[in-house]
Amino acid sequence: MIYLDNHATTRCDPRVVDAMVPWLSEHYGNPHSSHSLGVESHQAMEKAVCQIAGLLNAPVDSVVMTSGATESNNLAIRGMCLHPRQKRRHIVTVSTEHPAVLDVFADLQGSGFRVTHVPVQPNGSTNAGIVDLGQLEEAIDDDTALVSVMWANNEIGAIAPMRDIAGLCHDRGALLHSDATQAVGRIPVDMLDADIDLLSATAHKLYGPKGTGLLVVGNSNRRVRLNPQIVGGGQQRGIRSGTMNPAGIIGMATAMQLCNDEMNDHHERVARLRDHLWVTLNSRIEGLRLNGPEFGPERRLPGNLNLALPAIEGQAWMSAVPEIAFSSGSACSAAHTAPSHVLTALEIDESAARRSARFGVGRFNHVDDIEAACEMLVEGHAKLLALGN
Ligand SMILES: Cc1ncc(COP(=O)(O)O)c(C=O)c1O
Repeated sequence: MIYLDNHATTRCDPRVVDAMVPWLSEHYGNPHSSHSLGVESHQAMEKAVCQIAGLLNAPVDSVVMTSGATESNNLAIRGMCLHPRQKRRHIVTVSTEHPAVLDVFADLQGSGFRVTHVPVQPNGSTNAGIVDLGQLEEAIDDDTALVSVMWANNEIGAIAPMRDIAGLCHDRGALLHSDATQAVGRIPVDMLDADIDLLSATAHKLYGPKGTGLLVVGNSNRRVRLNPQIVGGGQQRGIRSGTMNPAGIIGMATAMQLCNDEMNDHHERVARLRDHLWVTLNSRIEGLRLNGPEFGPERRLPGNLNLALPAIEGQAWMSAVPEIAFSSGSACSAAHTAPSHVLTALEIDESAARRSARFGVGRFNHVDDIEAACEMLVEGHAKLLALGN
């Protein structure tokens, strides 16, 4: 299997596994217990949380550990909107967000919040898939409590200009949440520099374990009040109850540190492999079209490729080449057979959206994988064409 689906998840790096194992085996204390086994777990976990905060340039006491980005997004958006002191009743997001944001907005709309979805720039433009700042500015008013904009998109890799967006929000007294799930570990993410108020991330997209994520609540410029969404033992200052997960948290800190230390090399290598994949496929399959923004470090994640085939559906291509893991849309919404809402938000028609495929090149890919994958993809495509599929 050649794994080219690193936006769906990443392999847990063996160095991360090594850092986690002792906290699952010999050091198994409950980090909230007061005996020595508990205290050692607690101390190691606190050190990991400090490391995470440092890497994001966030205050230590602003980091809340969760089970993943879905929970973090729910806590950020519901927690802010449903806080008893929240008087504003309007919330704004972007049409290409992940369902873990869009579905929370839909629920809040059902509870009486006014919701605005801002469009993105259409396919074919340099900044395709990036939110239109003029329209975003128009959408925010004096009743806007929260704006939620993903830092990088999971299907087309489009990177949002977060610092400019933060300025637009704060000018109207609104706060900014960012689902940075695809950005953290792949591009520099600095809470204070971008002036983000709430930020979600998850370990399994950055070569860490599944089931561990985080929400940063506030930065040193602004405090944010959240209504807890999970109550119980009062852990994590009462914002998110439940026994914390030392192995997962230590794993996430280790994974983030590795991404940080290796970011420049990784960025360059992965972009080169992604370019190689695109250039080869484009030269051997006639009529391919790129979905999403033009390549470039400011605009698009380095490992991301999303393309539309001229005649074959992405799903059929996947079935014809089972040795390669890639995706015909967003793996996160694989339960739905509808064409990707991200692609249709870029004004790509439904048929072209169904003929699309997403590749995510990552840390463990090498040039040999890309070359072997191209051969199999081209061959699979030719077979389908010959079958008149
Ligand atoms: C942008 C984005 N947000 C949220 C999620 C959900 O993350 P998790 O699996 O940690 O709940 C994903 C992927 O699954 C994603 O790509």
